Amino acid sequence: MAFAVRPSLDYDRSEDLKAFDETKAGVKGLVDAGIEKIPRIFVRPADELARDYPISDAHLMIPVIDLGLPTCRRSTVVEAVRRASETLGFFQVVNHGIPTSVLGKMLTAARGFHELPKEVKMGFYTREEERKVKFNSNFDLYQSPSANWRDTLFCVMDPEPPIPEELPQICSVLLKRRDITMEYSKQIKRLGSSLFELLSEALGLRADCLTSFDCAKGHAILSHYYPACPEPELAMGTSKHCDPDFLTILLQDDIGGLQVLHENQWISVPPVPGGLVVNIGDLLQLMSNDKFMSVEHRVLANHVGPRVSVACFFTPHLYPSTRMYGPIKDLLSEDNPPIYRETSVKDFIAYYDSKGLDGNSALTYFKLSRSY
Ligand code: OGA
Ligand code: NI
Repeated sequence: MAFAVRPSLDYDRSEDLKAFDETKAGVKGLVDAGIEKIPRIFVRPADELARDYPISDAHLMIPVIDLGLPTCRRSTVVEAVRRASETLGFFQVVNHGIPTSVLGKMLTAARGFHELPKEVKMGFYTREEERKVKFNSNFDLYQSPSANWRDTLFCVMDPEPPIPEELPQICSVLLKRRDITMEYSKQIKRLGSSLFELLSEALGLRADCLTSFDCAKGHAILSHYYPACPEPELAMGTSKHCDPDFLTILLQDDIGGLQVLHENQWISVPPVPGGLVVNIGDLLQLMSNDKFMSVEHRVLANHVGPRVSVACFFTPHLYPSTRMYGPIKDLLSEDNPPIYRETSVKDFIAYYDSKGLDGNSALTYFKLSRSY
């Protein structure tokens, strides 16, 4: 295994993990049972707390980019995307073309699923790799040093959407007789394609370069639910990690708690009404040969809750293709030799998953000059 197994603590952690997993009720189940102290499996190790970075009090550091500008201002938009992707790896977009009503309904449907009776949700609870629609708490429950205060519904939506019957019924709240998750998926795919065009231009490439590598083909929608936490200072909502995809588009509600690591400080990504958060994933960092950065981020646990977010991961990993991804040839030169070897998306994800969150970047393993 590629991850380090922690030395045995003074209790049988693996028994506790198993017992929690077997409830199939997630963190929401604990909160509903009225616990006032968080179980030990969620407590962050003291050394991790001691090593943590300070939280920056600087605000509005994450740029908000207006995608509604007229075509004659396109170079301004491309420049803003380039600057953010090279430094912070994160930006927000407004006037992106997805109506606020669709965003609101998607958040409501996500919350609705997690607030279903536990007997209904249990039917979706699984850790099976190949399942297109699955509910669980902590995909890396058995690998991570501490469990996160979060439950997730994971749905692979593209290129082959699940048949509507595979989606939990609550997500099928009708929007003008169309399923909201399907509708959101369709709109996010269109937005993803426009973002890949902007990102291609920001790399100095033809607008269709990244889509020609199928970066916009294939996405999964993850509906996260962060219940109110009785001891938020002891736990994390989502531990620090980079995303193992090309690009992520995140819809968050108005509670906040998402933070990005920049120059050894945690910077908040404040909710922007009607806005969407965009971040560069590991595979785009690899393709851009480190011009764009896939940056570590996390979500704090909070006394206030639940917090709901919906992350769209652009990745085709359930549909293994033989396509290999490496640094884009047009970006390389004598002065800019390739930093990474080529990998298939499937191999990259398999390595990432075996490692668990909160380790070194998975990208290190794919470096050409790695020293181990
Ligand atoms: C993720 C993620 C942030 C959030 O799903 O990878 O970072 O706000 N989510 O839920
Ligand atoms: Ni993430």
